[in-house]
Amino acid sequence: MSKLIIPKIIGHRGACAYAPENTLASIHAAADLGVEWVEMDVKLTRDNVPVIFHDEDLNRCTGGSGLVAETDFKDLRELDAGAWFGESFIGEKIPTLEEALNAVIDRNLGLNLEIKPCPGREVETAEVALDFATRIWPDDAPPPLISSFSYVSLESAMDMLEEWPRGVLIDEYFDGWRDIAAHLDAHTVNINGLTVTPEQLEDYLAFGKPVLAYTIDDPARAQDLFDRGVAGVFSNCPDVIREEIETLH
Ligand code: G3P
Ligand code: MG
Repeated sequence: MSKLIIPKIIGHRGACAYAPENTLASIHAAADLGVEWVEMDVKLTRDNVPVIFHDEDLNRCTGGSGLVAETDFKDLRELDAGAWFGESFIGEKIPTLEEALNAVIDRNLGLNLEIKPCPGREVETAEVALDFATRIWPDDAPPPLISSFSYVSLESAMDMLEEWPRGVLIDEYFDGWRDIAAHLDAHTVNINGLTVTPEQLEDYLAFGKPVLAYTIDDPARAQDLFDRGVAGVFSNCPDVIREEIETLH
């Protein structure tokens, strides 16, 4: 496996300050800004199509109703995933994983694919997503970082594709996180950079793997996290973080 080289700034859900999150437009917005990696969330429709979408519920990002887990792909595809964000994005669709991967590859981006399973679908989501991803992802490109808050999904990813790196996502610090990260042979520890305390961050860093922090749109917070040893941040406005950090150095 090629060595994992993680950039300091990762576009969150694409570059979702500038385009509707988790759409092809958001991937292209990130690439246009010169971002090196993007993060995207993948889950399954009722009929097992892997799509790029964050919420369980369709309402916020499409104006539709109901749960992704209870919607077939053909119905989900009729929804508009751009209008809520702005008029210029009317007609944007929820992308399939395949479409999103192809856009990421075309734009020469690195990827953190977050497995965001609908409840009860932790194993299938990892298996279906990785089955698609391994068929599409170029053999000669560094593999995507596979992350999840679902340690069941990460265990499935490990069983299926041990050589692709895994990031263990932790929202709130809890005792025992280290045993889980060790069991999953985590390559990164991906934490909530807005709520982490200095003591908790020390503990994460002592694990010895790169610590990535979400979701950081304030350059001062990003700089503070970098100064403390954080390797990378996820940002909705990666260009703002980059510009401020370049100014400070
Ligand atoms: O992977 C970092 C971040 O995306 C995790 O939280 O809820 O934005 O998917 P969320
Ligand atoms: Mg995410």
